[in-house]
Amino acid sequence: MKLLILGATGPTGRHVVDLALRSGDAVTVLVRNPATLGDLAGRVTTVTGDATSQHDVSAAMAGRDAVISALGRGRSLAAKGLFTRSSAAVIAAARETGVSRLVWLSSFGVGHTLRWSSLTQQLMYRTLLRSIYANKEIADESIRTSGLDWTLVYPTRLTNGPAKGSYQADDRLPMRGNPTISRADVADFMLRAAHSSEWIGRTAVISD
Ligand SMILES: NC(=O)c1ccc[n+]([C@@H]2O[C@H](COP(=O)([O-])OP(=O)(O)OC[C@H]3O[C@@H](n4cnc5c(N)ncnc54)[C@H](OP(=O)(O)O)[C@@H]3O)[C@@H](O)[C@H]2O)c1
Repeated sequence: MKLLILGATGPTGRHVVDLALRSGDAVTVLVRNPATLGDLAGRVTTVTGDATSQHDVSAAMAGRDAVISALGRGRSLAAKGLFTRSSAAVIAAARETGVSRLVWLSSFGVGHTLRWSSLTQQLMYRTLLRSIYANKEIADESIRTSGLDWTLVYPTRLTNGPAKGSYQADDRLPMRGNPTISRADVADFMLRAAHSSEWIGRTAVISD
């Protein structure tokens, strides 16, 4: 499969790239600074640009079968419009290039999933993560109504632990306390979703 991976220099995106290459996919990445690709340079097709620019996303997306986004704000708690601006660019680029399959990493607790969260989770989502979550909610809704073959991925708190392969994935999961899932398992789910039609038009809550 020919994949465009956004956020490839971030920790989850890097797992997606590694898994995709191991599965034999042809990987294109859109990165702001190719120097941060390290040992990936030469193993992927690199397009230099910004994920909030329709022009840059279209250039990277043309000819691909699917897009996987693991975009994020790193350690920043301020969204700075990243998710609304990048989702708008991706949706417009998808229409321009005719690439309809999109697997988009969001967060558990965004939008309608807030009501299923535990009190501990709600405390974080409503305070520290408020800016990121508000921006993600708008972005996710624009993806749901885009007409694309989308999958929204809602993981619980991310860890850098190893892949377990035994995580749960469902439209809704019961929550207690502050459950986690490793970035490696999130990447595994996202790549599998891109390769199948099972999760098209669905929001997948994933957690250990
Ligand atoms: N931390 C948690 O517990 C948790 C829980 C659930 C969901 N999530 C979500 O999971 C996602 C991934 O998180 P992560 O910690 O693995 O990654 P991250 O550190 O947030 O990585 C962000 C990636 O996005 C890229 N990026 C940001 N703005 C960009 C732009 N304008 N154009 C192009 N690329 C851009 C970064 O590229 P550069 O290298 O150029 O900066 C980097 O590759 C985030 O959306 C996060 O909110 C996190």
